[in-house]
Amino acid sequence: SVLSHIPGVGSSASPEHGKVLCVGLACLDSIHVVKTFPVEDTDVRCVSVRLQRGGNASNNCTVLSQLGAPCEFLGTLSKKQYLSVVVDDFKAYNICINNCIYYEACDAPMSVVIISQTTGSRTIIHSNKNLPELTLDDFKKLDMSQYSWIHFEGRNVEEVVSMIELVEFWNENHISEHDRGHGLGHKALPISIEIEKPRAEMQDLIPWADVLFIGKDFAEFCGCTNMSETLKKIAQDAKPNATIISAWGEQGAMARGHDGTVVQSPAFCPHKVLDTLGAGDTFCGAAIFGLSRGKSLQDSIILGCQIAGIKVGMDGFAGLD
Ligand code: FRU
Repeated sequence: SVLSHIPGVGSSASPEHGKVLCVGLACLDSIHVVKTFPVEDTDVRCVSVRLQRGGNASNNCTVLSQLGAPCEFLGTLSKKQYLSVVVDDFKAYNICINNCIYYEACDAPMSVVIISQTTGSRTIIHSNKNLPELTLDDFKKLDMSQYSWIHFEGRNVEEVVSMIELVEFWNENHISEHDRGHGLGHKALPISIEIEKPRAEMQDLIPWADVLFIGKDFAEFCGCTNMSETLKKIAQDAKPNATIISAWGEQGAMARGHDGTVVQSPAFCPHKVLDTLGAGDTFCGAAIFGLSRGKSLQDSIILGCQIAGIKVGMDGFAGLD
């Protein structure tokens, strides 16, 4: 196992831990691997093609599950296209999808992804024609007592805020038996949000998270030129005791704890970078794994960088365990 040298991961899912719920997108990635990135208006052959389940929250689950966390994906799925590819793969990774919402007549979200073997870069062309987003009513059906952590992908902002209000209401009436050591005390259901897409409406999510994952694209959109600026800037709008985490690819990751302490991790670059598709999602999934298991913030971002480093050194996500 590639994880066997990393303490505390790769163990089988243990029932005393509630599930980590990841709310967001599942889509189909049509991945074309090329030697070098093509020049516009040329006709080139690819080295290989594969279909892969994608979407940030879906990828988070792929990582969490392989690290040994019971987890669930919640989102909408199309019955019209590619359903079995997506569903079978969730099952193969032991990811619960029991509460997903199915639409009969809508197209499946899909990405064409070009991966360059020379650089490991991934170029994504995403399409989402008419599959509705998850609604508050869909979310209301969940039995909150099954979970130990809820993670939201930053999208569908207004509706996600109302889902978080529901979780916060639940939290007011439920206290965890143990302080899991993640700096969030006895909060029954910590809420994390990943903000990646460079869009203004994403700012509205910042005040709602206990743990924020701020992607480089969004940070740059906010005018930040490095990780430490990002932490300071985002802290102005975040909850006073929020944990803020930002990972910038080969620059590694930096985080600001609930008490304002800043910690850092270098990137762990593999011998050869092969496939960076979902590297950020991998970091996020692994860091959530660490935090939800009571690892320190420092150790959790180191774990995130280590697992993301392993991921970019291989094709796809299979075999992280
Ligand atoms: C990677 C990813 C892909 C998907 C795209 C959607 O982070 O989730 O799997 O095609 O982003 O934006």
